[in-house]
Amino acid sequence: MPRRGFTVKKNWDNPVEHAMPADARVPAEVRIGRVAVRPATVLAPMAGVTDTVFRRFIRHASLFARDQGSGIRDQRVEKIEKRSEIEDVESAISNVESGCGLIMTEFTSADGLARMRETKRRRYLTFYDDEHPIGAQLFGSNPETLAEAARIVEETGFDTVDLNLGCPAKRVVGCNGGSGLLRDLPKIGEIFRAIRSAVTIPFTVKFRMGWNDAQIVCIELAKMAEAEGLDGLALHARTREQGYSGQAQWRWIAAVKQAVKLPVVGNGDVRTPEDAAAMVAETGCDAVMIGRAAPANPWIFRQIAQYTATGGYEKPTNEDRYGMIRAYFEMLLAEAEATRDLPRDARMGDPVGKMKQFATWFTHGVPGGAKLRAAIYQARTGPAVLCEVERFFVAQVDGTATDATDGAMDFREAALVCD
Ligand SMILES: Cc1cc2nc3c(=O)[nH]c(=O)nc-3n(C[C@H](O)[C@H](O)[C@H](O)COP(=O)(O)O)c2cc1C
Repeated sequence: MPRRGFTVKKNWDNPVEHAMPADARVPAEVRIGRVAVRPATVLAPMAGVTDTVFRRFIRHASLFARDQGSGIRDQRVEKIEKRSEIEDVESAISNVESGCGLIMTEFTSADGLARMRETKRRRYLTFYDDEHPIGAQLFGSNPETLAEAARIVEETGFDTVDLNLGCPAKRVVGCNGGSGLLRDLPKIGEIFRAIRSAVTIPFTVKFRMGWNDAQIVCIELAKMAEAEGLDGLALHARTREQGYSGQAQWRWIAAVKQAVKLPVVGNGDVRTPEDAAAMVAETGCDAVMIGRAAPANPWIFRQIAQYTATGGYEKPTNEDRYGMIRAYFEMLLAEAEATRDLPRDARMGDPVGKMKQFATWFTHGVPGGAKLRAAIYQARTGPAVLCEVERFFVAQVDGTATDATDGAMDFREAALVCD
């Protein structure tokens, strides 16, 4: 059984011989109620990150695969654009292609959703046809308001609705939302019942182990979820007090899996395909959820699928990264353009700010990436950012790039922090 932190040796010559042992394979499918998640990998909800552009970007990540180098930029951007135009995108795009079986929205305030104007709601709950299956995550503490928000989520066409019991942010916990509720199991029971009776779509919960090491409630909570008719669970194996520090304690995922029959999604510190295999082997979880590794390495889902099948996986070249950065920027600009004439509260946020944020993550591991990041931060417009990206990579190809100090970086150094 592969152990955590161990790198499983890859054999590229005869990968089939080295396919994962069955107990370390990320399952090909998990069913969350009536929704088939294929393969059993999930993009974690991440506030400020998993908006519609990023989610679709992850879904399409397979299109950035190496295509023998010719005209990467135009071909890839063109592919993305063509895909968006296909009417029946759902059938045209296989989740297996990107390796990511389920994507989730950023968390959304149930109070806000129930109160906000239709136009603003549209911004929070926007998704495209090619995002199915997609879950919407809610946070809040009032059972009726959460039930009303879940109804809105269902009417909007989401495949699943998820309750956040994990967010450690003070402003969320302060209103008894997120991980704050972990100290009040009876209230969680009320919320489970209210949401369950409000919607027919699959209803899931994402939670932490407990408030702190002295108050671990994950097993009790999982059993309650099962008794109240929820369809699945995702455990981020840390306590609220831990925040994002230390290591996720996967043994609690194993304990929850033992305690219930519901599908259990494991979450916390999966950074590589080897980690995903190790989590399945150690915990028996039914699916693996990935957060921080996705913005640094959008190929991770595809790599997991490859690794599961063959015991090996492709790693991105600089050209691949270039294609990826460009395509992501193009998608941001296209979304900003598409929402330009909508009322202000329905428009996409500042695309240039988003570009800068993502360029930081995307360029880790690219030689000279620090220089590129500095140039991007100076740029003031979307086209100016794209221009810097282009200039940088042309210099790489010409061999005129001077700064090669930004070598491969463990993405832990680029870890994002939820406030
Ligand atoms: C920037 C950021 C934003 C996050 N926002 C949410 C959120 O909206 N809802 C949620 O349930 N978890 C949120 N999380 C937690 C992640 O979903 C995930 O549980 C956590 O990052 C551990 O997984 P990882 O080690 O794969 O990153 C967030 C994490 C980060 C880093």
